[in-house]
Amino acid sequence: MSAFQYIREQWLRPALFFGNNLLSLLGGAITSASAFVLIGFWLIDAFGHGGSQNPYLGIILDFFLPALFLLGLILIPIGMLLRRARLRRAGQLPAAYPRIDFSDPVFRHGVDIVLIATFCNFVILGTATYRGVAYMDTVSFCGATCHVMAPEGTAYPVSTHSGVACVDCHIGHGVGGYISAKVNGTRQLLDVLRHHYPTPIQPNDMLPPASQTCLNCHRADAWIGDRIRIQTTFADDATNTRSRTLILLHVGGRNLDGQLSGIHGAHLGHIEYISTDASHQTIHYVAHTAADGTVTEYTDTDRKSAMTGIRRTMDCTDCHNRVAHSFQTPARALDQSMLAGLISPSLPYIHKQALALLQASYPDQKQALTAIQTSLDHYYQTNYPAIWQSSQLQITQAASRLAVLWGQNVFPFMKVTWGTHPNNLGHNDYPGCTRCHDGSHNSASGKSIASDCATCHNVLTLDDSNRKQLADLGIQ
Ligand code: HEC
Ligand code: HEC
Ligand code: HEC
Ligand code: HEC
Ligand code: HEC
Repeated sequence: MSAFQYIREQWLRPALFFGNNLLSLLGGAITSASAFVLIGFWLIDAFGHGGSQNPYLGIILDFFLPALFLLGLILIPIGMLLRRARLRRAGQLPAAYPRIDFSDPVFRHGVDIVLIATFCNFVILGTATYRGVAYMDTVSFCGATCHVMAPEGTAYPVSTHSGVACVDCHIGHGVGGYISAKVNGTRQLLDVLRHHYPTPIQPNDMLPPASQTCLNCHRADAWIGDRIRIQTTFADDATNTRSRTLILLHVGGRNLDGQLSGIHGAHLGHIEYISTDASHQTIHYVAHTAADGTVTEYTDTDRKSAMTGIRRTMDCTDCHNRVAHSFQTPARALDQSMLAGLISPSLPYIHKQALALLQASYPDQKQALTAIQTSLDHYYQTNYPAIWQSSQLQITQAASRLAVLWGQNVFPFMKVTWGTHPNNLGHNDYPGCTRCHDGSHNSASGKSIASDCATCHNVLTLDDSNRKQLADLGIQ
């Protein structure tokens, strides 16, 4: 018997015979129905019309339909096996399966269809698998599918890295990074389904080293030099007095002569530290390896607890830990919105009122808006009726902006509120640089990690103290 004949006699004929049952036919129907929908969607997508950002549409098209397609495929052989078992139990297995007659054109076409369908199924399954995997890498899947990601998903679009996909920072190089990310992701997905996840979600060293993420786009030793930073603040008085603080930050890097200097230059060597908490806010031990290999160990002489904890090599994210999820403090959020004119500084005492309203607690953003609007209306109606009459639009604008700011930073169901996620870049709002540069991290020989102000920056103007300088710089 030739191979072809063998397949025909031993496989095709029984398959066709047993395949004639309800379950297999149902499987075939499910498979072809979902295949039609999938192919239709891919065609629309290929012509550029399918780009919906709705994460649930993605789940339906890239997970649910392919799963249905696969289910249909699996049902076909199950139906066959069940029918065979049933017939065998009843002793009704045929001695010979119905003849396959290739001279019968109807039958020949039937076989053609089965072969073509099988080929198509492979193509569909391959494409669906590829698309499903690719979909898992999209910002919409990572940031918007799961409500537990709401804080990060909300902060992300208004960050400097809103154009960078989550996976570009959260997944390391190569197959290893990919698999570890998917294993972690699956575990987290199960945790979410079991309602068993930490609130708030902690970074917990979830990021691969910067060399596999940030440094794909940034150069570690790029020369940045000095940078002027202007911090505008508004006071709590009737006129919301504005003042500016100017600092000249010595960011440095590697200059054209190859020398390292400044903030970036100083940490490019190898620095390891031990922290006692998941977000690395309390650091008791720092070891700095100089270019010549000498190691200097600094320990916190003020510490009250043991020096055990998580050991980590310092990289970009130890300072830039909020590049994509830049949660704010209420004061900074408010000052920025007032500077941008989104909350009008011409409203008397708006800074003081707004700060208190931002810090109050609300169940959700909608109710925050109602409460803030009512409160501001009441305040201006009772204290400044004339202003309430003339500035209703500004008051309403202020209320809606405050509700947005609240909604971008406070997520009661995830226990995320102002200050939950500290920003390490600086030292005024959170410990930041002073986790190490506080004058009490000392080496055995009595050297401490530098902490005088001019190490990192020169304060040019503090709270408008030097108006001439501001004017010279063209800052009004
Ligand atoms: C530019 C890089 C970058 C991108 C893009 C990015 N992240 Fe992050 N993410 C970080 C860093 C840095 C941390 C803090 C890590 C640390 O402190 O150790 C972080 C932390 C987190 C955390 C832990 C909780 C927290 O706020 O610290 C979650 C959850 C998270 N990211 C989700 C996302 C999601 C979802 C996206 C896409 C919508 C995303 N990230 C995009 C860099 C990034
Ligand atoms: C896919 C490329 C890409 C990756 C990955 C990336 N960045 Fe960026 N980053 C950019 C681009 C582009 C800009 C400029 C954005 C702009 O000017 O609006 C930028 C800007 C910045 C800035 C200046 C703006 C700011 O937010 O202060 C910092 C700091 C920064 N990146 C740090 C990081 C760190 C730390 C990581 C790793 C956790 C990282 N980046 C990962 C592309 C990337
Ligand atoms: C010791 C803390 C620290 C570390 C570590 C650090 N940076 Fe920075 N970086 C800063 C500070 C401070 C600034 C200035 C911020 C400002 O302008 O407000 C800065 C500024 C930047 C900028 C913006 C430059 C500009 O043009 O304004 C980029 C981009 C950047 N860093 C990338 C990186 C990358 C990539 C790494 C890791 C190789 C890194 N940084 C490591 C503290 C650090
Ligand atoms: C994990 C601990 C740690 C953190 C956090 C840290 N640094 Fe450092 N920094 C060091 C060590 C260690 C040195 C090297 C000490 C030395 O050279 O004596 C150093 C050196 C420096 C220097 C050079 C000092 C000199 O004497 O020339 C500057 C500038 C600096 N850091 C700025 C910053 C800034 C800005 C931040 C916050 C954005 C920061 N550092 C955060 C550990 C840290
Ligand atoms: C280890 C480095 C370091 C040291 C030491 C340091 N600073 Fe800073 N400081 C920073 C960084 C980094 C920022 C910028 C933060 C940012 O980009 O938002 C900053 C910001 C500031 C600002 C700007 C206002 C603000 O809220 O951002 C003031 C004012 C300031 N520092 C004062 C001081 C004074 C006074 C001292 C000395 C007692 C000092 N700093 C010591 C790193 C340092």
